[in-house]
Amino acid sequence: MTVEHESELQGLRAAGRIVANTLRTMGEAVQPGVTTGALDAIAAEELRRAGARPAPALTYGFPGVACISINDEAAHGIAGKRVIRDGDLVKLDLSLEFAGFWADAAITVIAGAADQRHRRLCQITQSALNAGVAAAQAGKPMHAIGRAIEATTRKAGLRVIRELNGHGLGRRLHEDPSVPHYFEPRAARLLHEGLVLTVEPHVALGGGRIYEAADGWTLKTRDGSFVANFEHTIVITKGAPIVITAV
Ligand code: CO
Repeated sequence: MTVEHESELQGLRAAGRIVANTLRTMGEAVQPGVTTGALDAIAAEELRRAGARPAPALTYGFPGVACISINDEAAHGIAGKRVIRDGDLVKLDLSLEFAGFWADAAITVIAGAADQRHRRLCQITQSALNAGVAAAQAGKPMHAIGRAIEATTRKAGLRVIRELNGHGLGRRLHEDPSVPHYFEPRAARLLHEGLVLTVEPHVALGGGRIYEAADGWTLKTRDGSFVANFEHTIVITKGAPIVITAV
């Protein structure tokens, strides 16, 4: 969507605040011995209390509230009986609808003791997201976002997963346009004021190719390499974007 009125921005901010608060609560609960199902139950309770509805279930019939993906699972992992182990990379991706507005964000949390390489993977991915967000400005081409992200990951010797894009949203979970996280010269349309987008780089330690697992949802890396992901929903302005899912 394109925000045209202050009331729309307020609506998005309200949805974004629920996303950010819920992710923080879930993130604090990540530790060895906890099941992914217990984390999803926290999300379910937070959304129920806030009066929000989980976007993936509403939109795609996803079997869960949040997408919880571990280690080589890049995205769309289904919560359940899996027990989180020491050193696991736990990706928490939460999107929801609140009073007609939709917001989407993700964080990666390492359970227990972090391997140095995995901690660095998370730091670089967070920096890549920040660089992509900083490059998103009215009047610039869409590919400025992917260019900034890829510059950050390349310098660190890491790969962005090219199949996983950001997207427009606001009145639904997925709207046009698609937001590549790498330099895509064809993504040349100019960003305009009020445009609502996600930026959500998924960065792999290995090759960065993915496939869909037998459950029909979970996307995993072909080479088994670990993935980190951070995501925000932003509103384009003439200056720095408004990050509506920041805490
Ligand atoms: Co998203």
